[in-house]
Amino acid sequence: MAKKSKTAFICQNCATTHTQWQGKCDGCGEWNTIVEDNPLAGIGGGPGRAPKKGRVVPLASLDGEIEEAPRIISRVAELDRVTGGGFVRGSAVLLGGEPGIGKSTLLMQAAAALSRAGHNIVYVSGEEAVAQVRLRAKRLKANETQVLLAAETNVEDILTTLNDMEKRPDLVIIDSIQTMWTDSADSAPGTVTQVRQSAQALIRYAKSTGATVVMVGHVTKEGNIAGPRVVEHMVDAVIQFEGDGSHQYRILRALKNRFGPTDEIGVFEMMQSGLRQVANPSELFLGERADNAPGAAVFGGMEGTRPLLVEIQALVAPTSLGTPRRAVVGWDSARLSMIIAVLQAHCGVNLGQHDVYLNVAGGYRISEPAADLAVACALISSLAGLALPTDCVYFGEISLSGSIRPVPHAGQRIKEAEKLGFKSAVLPKGSSDVPKRNDESIFAAEKLVDLVVKIAG
Ligand code: TYD
Ligand code: MG
Repeated sequence: MAKKSKTAFICQNCATTHTQWQGKCDGCGEWNTIVEDNPLAGIGGGPGRAPKKGRVVPLASLDGEIEEAPRIISRVAELDRVTGGGFVRGSAVLLGGEPGIGKSTLLMQAAAALSRAGHNIVYVSGEEAVAQVRLRAKRLKANETQVLLAAETNVEDILTTLNDMEKRPDLVIIDSIQTMWTDSADSAPGTVTQVRQSAQALIRYAKSTGATVVMVGHVTKEGNIAGPRVVEHMVDAVIQFEGDGSHQYRILRALKNRFGPTDEIGVFEMMQSGLRQVANPSELFLGERADNAPGAAVFGGMEGTRPLLVEIQALVAPTSLGTPRRAVVGWDSARLSMIIAVLQAHCGVNLGQHDVYLNVAGGYRISEPAADLAVACALISSLAGLALPTDCVYFGEISLSGSIRPVPHAGQRIKEAEKLGFKSAVLPKGSSDVPKRNDESIFAAEKLVDLVVKIAG
Protein backbone atom coordinates (compact mmCIF):
# COMPACT_ATOMS: atom_id res chain seq x y z
CA MET A 1 0.00 0.00 0.00
CA ALA A 2 1.35 3.43 -0.88
CA LYS A 3 2.28 5.92 1.80
CA LYS A 4 -0.81 7.89 2.75
CA SER A 5 -0.23 11.46 1.61
CA LYS A 6 -2.41 14.51 1.38
CA THR A 7 -5.37 14.28 -0.95
CA ALA A 8 -6.40 16.87 -3.49
CA PHE A 9 -9.35 17.37 -5.79
CA ILE A 10 -8.61 16.10 -9.27
CA CYS A 11 -10.66 16.54 -12.43
CA GLN A 12 -11.35 13.07 -13.86
CA ASN A 13 -11.48 14.47 -17.37
CA CYS A 14 -8.29 16.52 -17.68
CA ALA A 15 -6.42 15.72 -14.44
CA THR A 16 -6.23 19.36 -13.28
CA THR A 17 -5.62 19.52 -9.53
CA HIS A 18 -7.73 21.83 -7.35
CA THR A 19 -7.24 22.65 -3.67
CA GLN A 20 -10.93 22.33 -2.89
CA TRP A 21 -14.01 20.75 -4.41
CA GLN A 22 -15.85 22.77 -7.02
CA GLY A 23 -18.63 21.99 -9.46
CA LYS A 24 -16.85 23.05 -12.63
CA CYS A 25 -13.24 22.32 -13.57
CA ASP A 26 -11.18 25.41 -14.41
CA GLY A 27 -8.95 23.31 -16.63
CA CYS A 28 -11.39 21.85 -19.13
CA GLY A 29 -14.71 23.51 -18.23
CA GLU A 30 -16.45 20.17 -17.55
CA TRP A 31 -19.03 19.91 -14.75
CA ASN A 32 -19.09 17.31 -11.96
CA THR A 33 -15.78 15.74 -12.87
CA ILE A 34 -13.86 16.65 -9.70
CA VAL A 35 -13.15 13.88 -7.22
CA GLU A 36 -11.08 13.77 -4.04
CA ASP A 37 -7.96 11.75 -4.79
CA ASN A 38 -4.30 11.41 -3.97
CA PRO A 39 -2.39 13.16 -6.76
CA LEU A 40 1.03 11.82 -5.86
CA ALA A 41 0.16 8.20 -5.16
CA GLY A 42 2.76 5.90 -6.67
CA ILE A 43 4.74 8.69 -8.31
CA GLY A 44 8.42 8.33 -7.58
CA GLY A 45 10.02 5.38 -5.90
CA GLY A 46 8.98 6.10 -2.33
CA PRO A 47 11.26 6.55 0.71
CA GLY A 48 12.81 3.08 0.45
CA ARG A 49 14.44 3.57 -2.95
CA ALA A 50 18.11 4.51 -3.08
CA PRO A 51 19.25 6.69 -6.02
CA LYS A 52 21.28 4.88 -8.66
CA LYS A 53 23.90 6.28 -11.03
CA GLY A 54 22.72 6.33 -14.67
CA ARG A 55 24.65 6.10 -17.94
CA VAL A 56 25.12 8.85 -20.53
CA VAL A 57 26.34 8.21 -24.07
CA PRO A 58 27.28 10.65 -26.82
CA LEU A 59 24.65 10.99 -29.54
CA ALA A 60 27.19 10.57 -32.33
CA SER A 61 28.57 7.26 -31.16
CA LEU A 62 25.14 5.64 -31.50
CA ASP A 63 25.54 5.85 -35.29
CA GLY A 64 26.15 2.18 -35.89
CA GLU A 65 23.25 1.07 -33.70
CA ILE A 66 20.48 3.02 -35.40
CA GLU A 67 18.02 0.76 -37.14
CA GLU A 68 14.34 0.70 -37.97
CA ALA A 69 12.12 -0.15 -35.00
CA PRO A 70 11.20 -3.86 -35.21
CA ARG A 71 7.49 -4.33 -35.79
CA ILE A 72 4.87 -7.03 -35.64
CA ILE A 73 2.67 -6.82 -38.68
CA SER A 74 -0.98 -7.57 -37.96
CA ARG A 75 -1.86 -8.44 -41.57
CA VAL A 76 -5.02 -6.38 -41.11
CA ALA A 77 -3.78 -4.03 -43.82
CA GLU A 78 -5.94 -1.07 -42.84
CA LEU A 79 -4.67 -1.29 -39.25
CA ASP A 80 -1.04 -1.64 -40.34
CA ARG A 81 -1.44 1.41 -42.56
CA VAL A 82 -2.50 3.52 -39.57
CA THR A 83 0.20 2.26 -37.21
CA GLY A 84 2.80 2.96 -39.89
CA GLY A 85 3.56 -0.64 -40.86
CA GLY A 86 2.67 -2.73 -37.80
CA PHE A 87 2.95 -2.45 -34.02
CA VAL A 88 6.42 -1.48 -32.83
CA ARG A 89 7.85 -3.97 -30.36
CA GLY A 90 8.16 -2.58 -26.84
CA SER A 91 5.73 0.25 -27.55
CA ALA A 92 2.46 1.16 -25.88
CA VAL A 93 -0.59 2.05 -27.95
CA LEU A 94 -3.89 3.54 -26.82
CA LEU A 95 -6.93 2.64 -28.95
CA GLY A 96 -9.73 5.10 -28.24
CA GLY A 97 -13.31 5.15 -29.40
CA GLU A 98 -16.89 5.46 -28.23
CA PRO A 99 -18.39 2.45 -26.49
CA GLY A 100 -19.84 0.02 -29.04
CA ILE A 101 -17.90 1.34 -32.01
CA GLY A 102 -15.98 -1.93 -32.47
CA LYS A 103 -12.68 -1.63 -30.58
CA SER A 104 -12.87 -5.10 -29.04
CA THR A 105 -13.92 -6.54 -32.40
CA LEU A 106 -11.00 -4.92 -34.21
CA LEU A 107 -8.47 -6.08 -31.65
CA MET A 108 -9.84 -9.63 -31.56
CA GLN A 109 -9.56 -9.80 -35.35
CA ALA A 110 -6.01 -8.42 -35.25
CA ALA A 111 -5.14 -10.83 -32.42
CA ALA A 112 -6.44 -13.78 -34.44
CA ALA A 113 -4.50 -12.71 -37.55
CA LEU A 114 -1.30 -12.29 -35.53
CA SER A 115 -1.78 -15.58 -33.77
CA ARG A 116 -2.22 -17.35 -37.12
CA ALA A 117 1.09 -15.83 -38.16
CA GLY A 118 2.74 -17.49 -35.18
CA HIS A 119 2.83 -14.64 -32.67
CA ASN A 120 2.01 -15.13 -29.02
CA ILE A 121 -0.98 -12.92 -28.16
CA VAL A 122 -2.63 -12.34 -24.79
CA TYR A 123 -6.06 -10.72 -24.65
CA VAL A 124 -6.92 -9.41 -21.17
CA SER A 125 -10.54 -8.42 -20.80
CA GLY A 126 -11.57 -6.38 -17.80
CA GLU A 127 -15.07 -5.86 -19.13
CA GLU A 128 -16.24 -9.25 -20.29
CA ALA A 129 -15.95 -12.77 -18.91
CA VAL A 130 -13.83 -15.27 -20.83
CA ALA A 131 -17.00 -16.98 -22.07
CA GLN A 132 -18.26 -13.73 -23.59
CA VAL A 133 -14.95 -13.04 -25.28
CA ARG A 134 -14.99 -16.60 -26.65
CA LEU A 135 -18.48 -16.05 -28.01
CA ARG A 136 -17.37 -12.95 -29.87
CA ALA A 137 -14.28 -14.74 -31.16
CA LYS A 138 -16.52 -17.51 -32.49
CA ARG A 139 -18.62 -14.97 -34.38
CA LEU A 140 -15.44 -13.54 -35.85
CA LYS A 141 -14.18 -17.02 -36.74
CA ALA A 142 -11.19 -16.37 -34.49
CA ASN A 143 -11.95 -19.15 -32.00
CA GLU A 144 -9.66 -21.67 -33.64
CA THR A 145 -6.55 -19.59 -32.94
CA GLN A 146 -4.00 -19.77 -30.12
CA VAL A 147 -4.90 -16.35 -28.63
CA LEU A 148 -4.70 -16.57 -24.83
CA LEU A 149 -7.59 -15.07 -22.87
CA ALA A 150 -7.76 -13.70 -19.35
CA ALA A 151 -10.50 -11.90 -17.47
CA GLU A 152 -8.56 -9.74 -15.00
CA THR A 153 -8.61 -6.20 -13.71
CA ASN A 154 -5.73 -6.04 -11.24
CA VAL A 155 -2.52 -4.87 -12.90
CA GLU A 156 -0.17 -6.66 -10.47
CA ASP A 157 -2.02 -9.94 -11.07
CA ILE A 158 -1.84 -9.41 -14.82
CA LEU A 159 1.88 -8.64 -14.77
CA THR A 160 2.60 -11.67 -12.58
CA THR A 161 0.64 -13.86 -15.01
CA LEU A 162 2.48 -12.41 -18.01
CA ASN A 163 5.91 -12.77 -16.40
CA ASP A 164 5.18 -16.39 -15.48
CA MET A 165 4.21 -17.39 -18.99
CA GLU A 166 6.27 -20.04 -20.72
CA LYS A 167 6.47 -18.18 -24.00
CA ARG A 168 6.86 -14.41 -23.74
CA PRO A 169 3.89 -12.57 -25.28
CA ASP A 170 4.50 -10.49 -28.43
CA LEU A 171 1.34 -8.49 -27.95
CA VAL A 172 -0.79 -7.85 -24.89
CA ILE A 173 -4.25 -6.35 -25.33
CA ILE A 174 -5.79 -4.62 -22.32
CA ASP A 175 -9.53 -4.10 -22.79
CA SER A 176 -10.02 -1.55 -21.28
CA ILE A 177 -7.63 0.67 -19.30
CA GLN A 178 -10.59 2.20 -17.44
CA THR A 179 -11.35 -1.13 -15.76
CA MET A 180 -7.80 -1.65 -14.49
CA TRP A 181 -6.68 -0.97 -10.95
CA THR A 182 -3.38 -1.26 -9.13
CA ASP A 183 -2.52 -1.93 -5.48
CA SER A 184 -0.18 1.06 -5.46
CA ALA A 185 -3.02 3.60 -5.62
CA ASP A 186 -5.78 3.76 -3.08
CA SER A 187 -8.42 5.54 -5.09
CA ALA A 188 -11.36 3.82 -6.77
CA PRO A 189 -10.97 2.04 -10.13
CA GLY A 190 -11.72 4.32 -13.07
CA THR A 191 -10.30 7.43 -11.41
CA VAL A 192 -7.49 9.37 -13.08
CA THR A 193 -4.99 8.15 -10.50
CA GLN A 194 -5.84 4.48 -11.01
CA VAL A 195 -5.88 4.78 -14.79
CA ARG A 196 -2.59 6.67 -14.88
CA GLN A 197 -0.79 4.30 -12.57
CA SER A 198 -2.15 1.17 -14.20
CA ALA A 199 -1.06 2.53 -17.58
CA GLN A 200 2.36 3.42 -16.16
CA ALA A 201 2.89 -0.14 -14.90
CA LEU A 202 1.78 -1.64 -18.22
CA ILE A 203 3.98 0.73 -20.23
CA ARG A 204 6.94 -0.17 -18.01
CA TYR A 205 6.19 -3.83 -18.75
CA ALA A 206 6.19 -3.12 -22.52
CA LYS A 207 9.50 -1.25 -22.40
CA SER A 208 11.23 -3.83 -20.24
CA THR A 209 10.09 -6.98 -22.08
CA GLY A 210 9.76 -5.76 -25.67
CA ALA A 211 6.11 -6.81 -25.88
CA THR A 212 3.66 -4.42 -27.49
CA VAL A 213 0.86 -3.33 -25.16
CA VAL A 214 -2.39 -2.09 -26.71
CA MET A 215 -4.76 -0.45 -24.27
CA VAL A 216 -8.38 0.24 -25.09
CA GLY A 217 -9.76 3.56 -23.80
CA HIS A 218 -13.36 4.68 -24.00
CA VAL A 219 -13.94 8.22 -25.18
CA THR A 220 -16.58 10.69 -24.10
CA LYS A 221 -19.13 12.04 -26.53
CA GLU A 222 -16.99 15.17 -27.01
CA GLY A 223 -14.31 12.93 -28.46
CA ASN A 224 -11.81 13.05 -25.61
CA ILE A 225 -10.39 9.85 -24.27
CA ALA A 226 -12.46 9.89 -21.07
CA GLY A 227 -10.55 10.32 -17.86
CA PRO A 228 -7.25 8.91 -19.07
CA ARG A 229 -6.37 11.90 -21.20
CA VAL A 230 -3.23 11.68 -19.10
CA VAL A 231 -2.53 8.32 -20.74
CA GLU A 232 -2.35 9.98 -24.17
CA HIS A 233 0.87 11.67 -23.12
CA MET A 234 2.41 8.49 -21.80
CA VAL A 235 1.90 6.12 -24.73
CA ASP A 236 3.82 5.99 -28.03
CA ALA A 237 0.75 6.05 -30.25
CA VAL A 238 -2.87 7.07 -29.88
CA ILE A 239 -5.25 5.55 -32.40
CA GLN A 240 -8.88 6.55 -32.60
CA PHE A 241 -11.70 4.40 -33.94
CA GLU A 242 -14.50 6.61 -35.22
CA GLY A 243 -17.80 6.14 -36.89
CA ASP A 244 -21.36 7.22 -37.00
CA GLY A 245 -23.94 5.01 -35.32
CA SER A 246 -26.23 5.23 -38.35
CA HIS A 247 -23.57 4.11 -40.82
CA GLN A 248 -21.83 0.80 -41.15
CA TYR A 249 -18.35 2.02 -41.79
CA ARG A 250 -15.67 2.90 -39.23
CA ILE A 251 -12.54 4.99 -39.62
CA LEU A 252 -9.30 4.33 -37.82
CA ARG A 253 -7.06 7.35 -37.39
CA ALA A 254 -3.71 7.93 -35.68
CA LEU A 255 -3.86 11.01 -33.44
CA LYS A 256 -0.29 10.59 -32.27
CA ASN A 257 2.41 8.24 -33.49
CA ARG A 258 6.05 8.27 -32.39
CA PHE A 259 6.92 5.66 -35.02
CA GLY A 260 4.89 6.62 -38.05
CA PRO A 261 2.64 9.09 -39.82
CA THR A 262 -0.51 10.57 -38.30
CA ASP A 263 -2.33 11.39 -41.51
CA GLU A 264 -3.24 7.89 -42.69
CA ILE A 265 -6.70 6.45 -42.16
CA GLY A 266 -7.97 2.90 -42.19
CA VAL A 267 -11.52 2.23 -43.34
CA PHE A 268 -13.64 -0.69 -42.17
CA GLU A 269 -17.22 -1.76 -42.57
CA MET A 270 -19.03 -3.40 -39.63
CA MET A 271 -20.72 -6.58 -40.84
CA GLN A 272 -22.56 -9.43 -39.13
CA SER A 273 -19.30 -11.39 -39.10
CA GLY A 274 -17.06 -8.59 -37.86
CA LEU A 275 -15.12 -5.77 -39.48
CA ARG A 276 -14.43 -5.91 -43.19
CA GLN A 277 -11.56 -3.87 -44.61
CA VAL A 278 -12.47 -1.35 -47.25
CA ALA A 279 -9.53 -1.08 -49.60
CA ASN A 280 -11.20 1.49 -51.84
CA PRO A 281 -13.10 3.92 -49.61
CA SER A 282 -14.15 6.24 -52.45
CA GLU A 283 -16.54 3.58 -53.75
CA LEU A 284 -18.10 3.41 -50.31
CA PHE A 285 -18.60 7.15 -49.93
CA LEU A 286 -19.93 7.62 -53.44
CA GLY A 287 -22.17 4.56 -53.24
CA GLU A 288 -25.62 6.11 -53.13
CA ARG A 289 -25.37 9.09 -55.41
CA ALA A 290 -28.50 10.58 -56.96
CA ASP A 291 -28.13 11.76 -60.55
CA ASN A 292 -28.81 15.33 -61.53
CA ALA A 293 -29.54 16.76 -58.11
CA PRO A 294 -28.62 20.43 -57.72
CA GLY A 295 -26.32 21.13 -54.77
CA ALA A 296 -24.10 18.05 -55.03
CA ALA A 297 -20.39 18.23 -55.86
CA VAL A 298 -17.82 15.46 -55.62
CA PHE A 299 -14.68 16.48 -53.76
CA GLY A 300 -11.40 14.88 -54.80
CA GLY A 301 -9.81 14.60 -51.35
CA MET A 302 -6.69 13.06 -49.87
CA GLU A 303 -6.25 11.22 -46.58
CA GLY A 304 -2.54 10.85 -45.96
CA THR A 305 -1.15 9.16 -49.04
CA ARG A 306 -4.51 7.86 -50.21
CA PRO A 307 -6.97 9.74 -52.43
CA LEU A 308 -10.58 9.69 -51.30
CA LEU A 309 -13.61 10.96 -53.18
CA VAL A 310 -16.63 12.17 -51.22
CA GLU A 311 -19.82 13.87 -52.19
CA ILE A 312 -20.60 17.27 -50.69
CA GLN A 313 -24.27 18.22 -50.54
CA ALA A 314 -25.56 21.75 -50.09
CA LEU A 315 -29.08 23.07 -49.69
CA VAL A 316 -29.63 26.80 -50.05
CA ALA A 317 -33.20 27.95 -49.37
CA PRO A 318 -34.83 31.36 -48.67
CA THR A 319 -35.00 31.93 -44.93
CA SER A 320 -38.01 32.74 -42.80
CA LEU A 321 -35.83 33.75 -39.87
CA GLY A 322 -34.25 37.09 -38.98
CA THR A 323 -30.83 35.47 -38.84
CA PRO A 324 -30.47 32.78 -41.49
CA ARG A 325 -29.49 29.29 -40.41
CA ARG A 326 -26.13 27.72 -41.21
CA ALA A 327 -25.92 24.02 -40.40
CA VAL A 328 -22.87 21.91 -41.22
CA VAL A 329 -22.28 18.18 -40.84
CA GLY A 330 -18.82 16.82 -41.56
CA TRP A 331 -17.03 20.08 -42.19
CA ASP A 332 -15.84 23.19 -40.33
CA SER A 333 -18.63 25.75 -39.90
CA ALA A 334 -16.16 28.66 -39.68
CA ARG A 335 -14.83 27.63 -43.08
CA LEU A 336 -18.37 27.62 -44.50
CA SER A 337 -18.93 31.17 -43.22
CA MET A 338 -15.70 32.19 -44.94
CA ILE A 339 -16.82 30.73 -48.29
CA ILE A 340 -20.19 32.47 -47.97
CA ALA A 341 -18.40 35.76 -47.26
CA VAL A 342 -16.08 35.33 -50.27
CA LEU A 343 -19.04 34.52 -52.53
CA GLN A 344 -20.71 37.74 -51.40
CA ALA A 345 -17.68 40.02 -51.47
CA HIS A 346 -16.05 38.86 -54.72
CA CYS A 347 -18.67 37.05 -56.77
CA GLY A 348 -21.87 39.03 -56.17
CA VAL A 349 -23.60 35.96 -54.72
CA ASN A 350 -25.56 37.05 -51.66
CA LEU A 351 -26.71 34.34 -49.27
CA GLY A 352 -27.76 36.81 -46.52
CA GLN A 353 -31.44 35.93 -47.01
CA HIS A 354 -30.90 32.19 -47.33
CA ASP A 355 -30.56 29.27 -44.95
CA VAL A 356 -27.56 27.13 -45.81
CA TYR A 357 -27.26 23.42 -44.99
CA LEU A 358 -24.09 21.55 -45.81
CA ASN A 359 -23.56 17.83 -45.48
CA VAL A 360 -20.67 15.52 -46.26
CA ALA A 361 -22.17 12.27 -47.55
CA GLY A 362 -21.86 9.05 -45.60
CA GLY A 363 -21.17 10.80 -42.28
CA TYR A 364 -17.53 11.29 -43.24
CA ARG A 365 -15.58 14.24 -41.81
CA ILE A 366 -13.33 16.42 -43.99
CA SER A 367 -10.48 18.45 -42.54
CA GLU A 368 -8.70 19.51 -45.75
CA PRO A 369 -8.97 23.14 -46.95
CA ALA A 370 -8.90 21.67 -50.47
CA ALA A 371 -12.62 21.02 -50.05
CA ASP A 372 -13.36 24.78 -50.34
CA LEU A 373 -13.91 24.64 -54.08
CA ALA A 374 -16.29 21.67 -53.98
CA VAL A 375 -18.27 23.39 -51.20
CA ALA A 376 -18.48 26.67 -53.13
CA CYS A 377 -19.62 24.85 -56.29
CA ALA A 378 -22.26 22.88 -54.34
CA LEU A 379 -23.58 26.15 -52.86
CA ILE A 380 -23.74 27.90 -56.24
CA SER A 381 -25.38 24.87 -57.83
CA SER A 382 -28.07 24.69 -55.13
CA LEU A 383 -28.75 28.43 -55.24
CA ALA A 384 -29.06 28.39 -59.03
CA GLY A 385 -31.09 25.17 -59.02
CA LEU A 386 -28.76 23.74 -61.66
CA ALA A 387 -27.15 20.34 -61.23
CA LEU A 388 -23.39 20.03 -61.74
CA PRO A 389 -22.12 17.39 -64.16
CA THR A 390 -22.15 14.07 -62.29
CA ASP A 391 -18.84 12.95 -63.80
CA CYS A 392 -16.80 15.93 -62.56
CA VAL A 393 -14.62 16.23 -59.44
CA TYR A 394 -13.65 19.44 -57.66
CA PHE A 395 -10.75 20.43 -55.43
CA GLY A 396 -8.91 23.63 -54.52
CA GLU A 397 -8.48 26.06 -51.66
CA ILE A 398 -10.24 29.42 -51.78
CA SER A 399 -8.47 32.48 -50.38
CA LEU A 400 -10.17 35.49 -48.84
CA SER A 401 -9.41 37.45 -52.00
CA GLY A 402 -11.57 35.07 -54.03
CA SER A 403 -8.69 33.41 -55.85
CA ILE A 404 -8.32 29.65 -56.06
CA ARG A 405 -5.06 28.27 -54.73
CA PRO A 406 -3.33 25.04 -55.71
CA VAL A 407 -3.34 22.10 -53.30
CA PRO A 408 -0.91 19.17 -53.15
CA HIS A 409 -1.31 15.84 -55.01
CA ALA A 410 -3.46 17.13 -57.89
CA GLY A 411 -2.30 14.30 -60.15
CA GLN A 412 -3.21 11.60 -57.63
CA ARG A 413 -6.66 13.09 -57.04
CA ILE A 414 -7.39 13.11 -60.77
CA LYS A 415 -6.08 9.57 -61.21
CA GLU A 416 -8.40 8.29 -58.47
CA ALA A 417 -11.36 10.10 -60.07
CA GLU A 418 -10.57 8.58 -63.47
CA LYS A 419 -10.36 5.15 -61.91
CA LEU A 420 -13.93 5.61 -60.65
CA GLY A 421 -15.26 6.75 -64.03
CA PHE A 422 -15.09 10.51 -63.61
CA LYS A 423 -14.42 12.29 -66.90
CA SER A 424 -13.64 15.87 -65.90
CA ALA A 425 -12.15 17.98 -63.12
CA VAL A 426 -12.29 21.56 -61.89
CA LEU A 427 -9.06 22.47 -60.12
CA PRO A 428 -6.82 25.44 -59.31
CA LYS A 429 -4.80 27.05 -62.07
CA GLY A 430 -1.12 26.32 -61.55
CA SER A 431 -1.64 22.85 -60.04
CA SER A 432 1.40 20.66 -60.43
CA ASP A 433 1.54 17.17 -62.01
CA VAL A 434 -1.81 17.54 -63.79
CA PRO A 435 -2.01 15.21 -66.79
CA LYS A 436 -1.80 17.11 -70.11
CA ARG A 437 -5.02 16.94 -72.12
CA ASN A 438 -6.07 18.48 -75.40
CA ASP A 439 -9.79 18.35 -74.67
CA GLU A 440 -11.76 20.40 -72.18
CA SER A 441 -11.95 17.76 -69.47
CA ILE A 442 -9.81 19.80 -67.09
CA PHE A 443 -10.90 23.29 -66.13
CA ALA A 444 -8.15 25.20 -64.35
CA ALA A 445 -9.84 28.01 -62.43
CA GLU A 446 -8.07 31.10 -61.21
CA LYS A 447 -10.88 33.05 -59.55
CA LEU A 448 -14.03 31.83 -57.86
CA VAL A 449 -16.07 34.33 -59.85
CA ASP A 450 -15.12 32.52 -63.09
CA LEU A 451 -16.72 29.38 -61.71
CA VAL A 452 -19.88 31.21 -60.68
CA VAL A 453 -20.18 32.29 -64.33
CA LYS A 454 -19.41 28.78 -65.56
CA ILE A 455 -22.01 27.10 -63.31
CA ALA A 456 -24.83 29.62 -63.10
CA GLY A 457 -24.29 31.28 -66.49
P1 TYD B 1 -17.46 -3.96 -29.79
O1 TYD B 1 -16.24 -4.44 -30.48
O2 TYD B 1 -17.92 -4.73 -28.62
O3 TYD B 1 -17.32 -2.42 -29.40
P2 TYD B 1 -16.40 -1.70 -28.31
O4 TYD B 1 -15.39 -2.67 -27.84
O5 TYD B 1 -15.80 -0.52 -29.04
O6 TYD B 1 -17.29 -1.22 -27.22
O7 TYD B 1 -18.58 -3.91 -30.92
C1 TYD B 1 -19.85 -3.62 -30.56
C2 TYD B 1 -20.81 -3.53 -31.69
O8 TYD B 1 -20.44 -4.15 -32.89
C3 TYD B 1 -22.06 -4.18 -31.24
O9 TYD B 1 -23.07 -3.20 -31.28
C4 TYD B 1 -22.33 -5.28 -32.18
C5 TYD B 1 -21.49 -4.97 -33.36
N1 TYD B 1 -20.92 -6.17 -33.99
C6 TYD B 1 -21.29 -6.53 -35.27
O10 TYD B 1 -22.11 -5.87 -35.90
N2 TYD B 1 -20.74 -7.63 -35.83
C7 TYD B 1 -19.84 -8.41 -35.17
O11 TYD B 1 -19.35 -9.41 -35.73
C8 TYD B 1 -19.48 -8.04 -33.83
C9 TYD B 1 -18.51 -8.86 -33.04
C10 TYD B 1 -20.04 -6.91 -33.28
MG1 MG C 1 -15.25 -3.54 -25.93
